[in-house]
Amino acid sequence: MATTTLDDYLAQLDQLQQQALQRFRECRNAQELEQVRVEYLGAKRGVLRQVQQRLKELAPEEKPQAGKRFNELKKTLEAALEEAKQRVAASPQPEKPAKEKRRRGAEDLPPPFDPTAVPPQAQLRLGRLHPVTQTIRRMKEVMARLGFEVADGPEVEDPWHNFEALNIPEAHPARDPLDNFYLSTARLTEPQPPQEEGPQLLLRSQTSTVQIRVMEKRPAPVRVIALGRVYRPDTADATHFPMFHQMEGLYVDRGVTMAQLKTVLRLFASMFFGPEVQVRFRPSFFPFTEPSVEVDMTWKDGWIEMGGAGMVDPAVLQAVGYDPEQVTGFAFGLGVERVCMRQYGIDDIRLLYRNDVRFLQQF
Ligand code: DAH
Repeated sequence: MATTTLDDYLAQLDQLQQQALQRFRECRNAQELEQVRVEYLGAKRGVLRQVQQRLKELAPEEKPQAGKRFNELKKTLEAALEEAKQRVAASPQPEKPAKEKRRRGAEDLPPPFDPTAVPPQAQLRLGRLHPVTQTIRRMKEVMARLGFEVADGPEVEDPWHNFEALNIPEAHPARDPLDNFYLSTARLTEPQPPQEEGPQLLLRSQTSTVQIRVMEKRPAPVRVIALGRVYRPDTADATHFPMFHQMEGLYVDRGVTMAQLKTVLRLFASMFFGPEVQVRFRPSFFPFTEPSVEVDMTWKDGWIEMGGAGMVDPAVLQAVGYDPEQVTGFAFGLGVERVCMRQYGIDDIRLLYRNDVRFLQQF
């Protein structure tokens, strides 16, 4: 997906033209003019050259119009340079300052300080969205076309939404403190207060929490996705990071089947990655689905695991007050970073969270 739109680009050229013409007009001698020439028309680092590079980022069908406007701009600036050259050559050179100290006239003073002025180079540094944000937006778009609306839930959760309602009972290993970020309310520096009442909160370890929150709030049918951060105390390596994102999907209605689940995930994959991607479902286990599958997609010469899915377990439907005799549903959870990495050919998740602009500006 192009990161620069035609409108942005054309607006940038207009702004640049205005600025540059003004700068050429303000030149009072050959030396100043040379500085401004290099700044804008310099062959290697000139602003114009940088702007020309960005043409590449536009969609192919936008390029002709953008290129035409770029050429006009270039001609305009070259003409302005010529005009300024002649004007500077014709104007009398300032006299050498007399040895005697002259009284300073108004023209000798530097221009007044303008704290709101932005240097022309800085204005051209357009920001862009983080690749994960771009991926999340695309995923939402694709799922919207498949009829899924976006739901949301908190990142700090209670055990009911993160575990219990999802059929993960108290003694289940998934609730181990070593596998979760539980939040402690005790202060380290003071004597421990008596144990507070109420559930022990944690950073959610999965977006499946939002399934519960949505179904608690409204009756079937529901067809939603939820995209957001999840947290697990994993050691960071090429495929793991203690914070990552998931896209959860949930569809509950009368007569929803596994065939529909497979179709939706296949459609998502081909709409997102293109028709050549293949999707594979492997039998698996999750407490909140029965049956459960692992979802893989082709990448390079092999498969990459994208997430899990299955038919919503009747116990989950019961937990939120749905009648499993009346409705069935499917659910899935995909790793957003995995999708992003396959989309852009990134082979190490840590690159996404190093905040290195040289890496990020490629997307
Ligand atoms: N919550 C699971 C995880 O984080 C992923 C998942 C599996 C979500 C199956 C689902 C599902 O909705 O049906 O590993």
